[in-house]
Amino acid sequence: MTYINKGVPGIDQYITLNEPDVGAVLPKELYPQNAEVPMLFKPLTIRGVTFHNRIFVSPMCQFSSDNGHATDWHFVHIGGFATRGVGAVCMEATAVVPEGRISPQDAGLWADSQIAPLKRIVNFVHAHGVKIGVQLSHAGRKASTTASWLRFNSDRTAKTAKYIAEAEEGGWPDRVFAPSEIQFSPEYPKPKAISEEQIQAVVDAFGQAAERCKAAGFDFIEIHAAHGYLLHSFNSPLSNTRTDQYGGSLENRLRFPLQAIERVRAVWDKPLFVRISATEWAEGPEQDPTTGEWKSWGIEQSKIYVGELKKLGVDLVDCSTGGNWIKQKITSVPGYQVPFAEALKKTYPDLPIGAVGMITEPEQAESYLREGKADIVSLAREFIRQPHWAILAADKLGVAVKAANQYERGFPHLIGARHP
Ligand SMILES: Cc1cc2nc3c(=O)[nH]c(=O)nc-3n(C[C@H](O)[C@H](O)[C@H](O)COP(=O)(O)O)c2cc1C
Repeated sequence: MTYINKGVPGIDQYITLNEPDVGAVLPKELYPQNAEVPMLFKPLTIRGVTFHNRIFVSPMCQFSSDNGHATDWHFVHIGGFATRGVGAVCMEATAVVPEGRISPQDAGLWADSQIAPLKRIVNFVHAHGVKIGVQLSHAGRKASTTASWLRFNSDRTAKTAKYIAEAEEGGWPDRVFAPSEIQFSPEYPKPKAISEEQIQAVVDAFGQAAERCKAAGFDFIEIHAAHGYLLHSFNSPLSNTRTDQYGGSLENRLRFPLQAIERVRAVWDKPLFVRISATEWAEGPEQDPTTGEWKSWGIEQSKIYVGELKKLGVDLVDCSTGGNWIKQKITSVPGYQVPFAEALKKTYPDLPIGAVGMITEPEQAESYLREGKADIVSLAREFIRQPHWAILAADKLGVAVKAANQYERGFPHLIGARHP
């Protein structure tokens, strides 16, 4: 009998082979407790791509890129999730043009030289059987700001009086664009209204970045159309007061985001996700009950928007909220955004929907999927605290999943459950 520490076949270095993939359910023949698998650990196939569980790492800006290029920080940060049991990782907001970065150290995919460091990360993640996507973005009127830790304390209270990254700080406050010349808040840059020609250039840039995603080998793209960034800011009558074909009616306010998403869909045949903010939490009703006029952005328009996304062939809507209205009042309780995901799911039962926002407990996450409120869950802050959350969640829900070979000894009770 020979015992060979097998490597992943067909790759350019030795990486130990995990069988099954890290985070996949172990065979029920060896693990009788796996006869019944919780929803969180049931595979999901979207457009031919199979995610071995439904736990996603939500995109998290790291403010750590080198002129838009991923660095060893990203390799360690993202690679660390791939070795710890998730179904997929979505890389952070990645700007399609330099002026679409939130901060000077944001990620980008506007140049071919940005492909190689991403490809290295993608290859490593794939070697563990995990799927990886990237969130393509344009920060709009929230661009040219400083890294979050310069602006905010860890509880998100303000640290500085202004958030703008000035030219001498690597910023571009004179090239910040928005639907209209409306600042997000006095601490942010004063934006210029983007011209129709510039809109088309951004649409093209989304398409070109999607081409680069192919070269990097990503499994999915998520378009960032949430949190008050450029695409989302076109949705809302509070930030978009244009009088051309991109402002006014709901149809007009959806036009630019739909054009950008359509362009990506045209060049990208793998799964395409869109993150939206399903409400901006503004005061008062979304629609004037007497005149029918839309007053702010909310769930009723989001439902119409998602219907259009579905027609374009979008494969999953990642349902977030907020970020466009400075006076937003959010009651941040566990699962505070799930009712919005649920409303979209009810409207489009056959469209995969993602839930995100203060999902921290395995039973909580499992309940959203079991009750049909969403199809996947994304976690951000809890993964910072507990990178092994997926394996720990499996343990809590009573299912045995594969830990990375090198980490199995940290979970002896899971191994101990094995009996032929
Ligand atoms: C450090 C950090 C960076 C983030 N960056 C992004 C981002 O790049 N794109 C995005 O859509 N959301 C971003 N978010 C929001 C998260 O993806 C997530 O939607 C939000 O934190 C709520 O989920 P949570 O309660 O699990 O943290 C970020 C959150 C954190 C904590």
